[in-house]
Amino acid sequence: MNIAVIGAQWGDEGKGKIVDYLASETDVVVRFSGGANAGHTVVAENVTYKLHLIPSGIIYPGKQVVLGAGMVIDLEAMFEELSILEQQGVDTSGNVFISDRAHLVLPSYKERDKESDKTRKRPIGTTGRGIGITYARKAGREGIRVADLYDTEFYNGLPKEDKAFLDPFRERISPMVIDITDFLYNRLGERILLEGAQGTLLDIDHGTYPYVSSGCSIAAGASIGSGIGPKHIDRILGVFKAYSTRVGNGPFPSEFNDARDGSLCETVRELGREYGVTTGRPRRCGYLDLVALKYACRVNSFDSLVLTHIDVYDEFEEISACVGYEIDGKRVDRFPASIGSLNKVKPVLKSFPGWKSSLSDCRTYDELPENAKKYIAFIEEFTGTAMEIISVGYERRQTIVRKDQWTKS
Ligand code: IMP
Repeated sequence: MNIAVIGAQWGDEGKGKIVDYLASETDVVVRFSGGANAGHTVVAENVTYKLHLIPSGIIYPGKQVVLGAGMVIDLEAMFEELSILEQQGVDTSGNVFISDRAHLVLPSYKERDKESDKTRKRPIGTTGRGIGITYARKAGREGIRVADLYDTEFYNGLPKEDKAFLDPFRERISPMVIDITDFLYNRLGERILLEGAQGTLLDIDHGTYPYVSSGCSIAAGASIGSGIGPKHIDRILGVFKAYSTRVGNGPFPSEFNDARDGSLCETVRELGREYGVTTGRPRRCGYLDLVALKYACRVNSFDSLVLTHIDVYDEFEEISACVGYEIDGKRVDRFPASIGSLNKVKPVLKSFPGWKSSLSDCRTYDELPENAKKYIAFIEEFTGTAMEIISVGYERRQTIVRKDQWTKS
């Protein structure tokens, strides 16, 4: 059986924690999209791990992790990350595999990534990790894949400076390189976790284009980027925060604004530690956008939702969520493609009474205060999707599971 874990917002939803939680009962964890632009934080036994390329399951001894075919890999960054993990006591040897179809990021792409954002008509606010350039070269059929490192004729024809960068990695990664489809097909009877990066609204096709990343971050990407056919994806979980954040530029319909919301943005940013793991940038913050969440439920066909960061609201008298859009004086209940329309949105807000108590020690749904349950029930009804996992803190144990995800239903 396998489960795909997908971001339902603009990334940073807490997928790392949820993958880490589910990974305890998993045999293999596969990252299927993106590259070192991602930043997944995992807290285990009071140690904080920051992951960018390596799938979150690595923290458990003996778990196998795979960097999938849909990824774009900066080998230098990957070995730096492995070395930090080793310093933190994680034994990674023999457990990390790389798809031979994944594309490689070269150092010059990172510079070009930053430069092109400066001259773009609509600057994205890229993380500058070379992601957009690598995916552009992939689509232009000019990319360099892991398999190409071992194709002597192709490899010898590469520019000298590219070879100088790649040479030391050829032997070093060779024991890690696999045919991912073969590797996973033979293990379909085991438990496989497909780890998403970024989020639905940063997806190249279904996100807020052009203010998106360049990979396929929706559930369909789990199939594309892992090489497991769509019929074999058994369960899809959508992870979202009790509020919204986005890093970089682009429309954000429910973003807090000081005139309407006072210091709410600062409060949520501080309580939720909303600073980028990859760039350290303060994240833009806003109300939970249920119009966008419903859209994410449809585009990903989530089997269930996972709510994180609900504890950020513990001391609030009242909390609000965006339940509709007003655009040019008209009520709109769907998530538009047009950036112009999204920029004009006035969020229609609905308020809920707060629970004024700490959720951090709740371990079952029944232990949650009534007002938290009502907020959860409203989201389930609005999106038509069950909420089966609720995270009430950063630690693994601070997780409420309403239904075992590995049981087929
Ligand atoms: P790029 O993928 O580095 O080109 O960045 C494109 C956009 O996606 C920028 O607005 C980034 O801030 C955003 N982005 C990329 N990866 C992540 C992520 O993991 N979390 C949140 N935002 C991201």
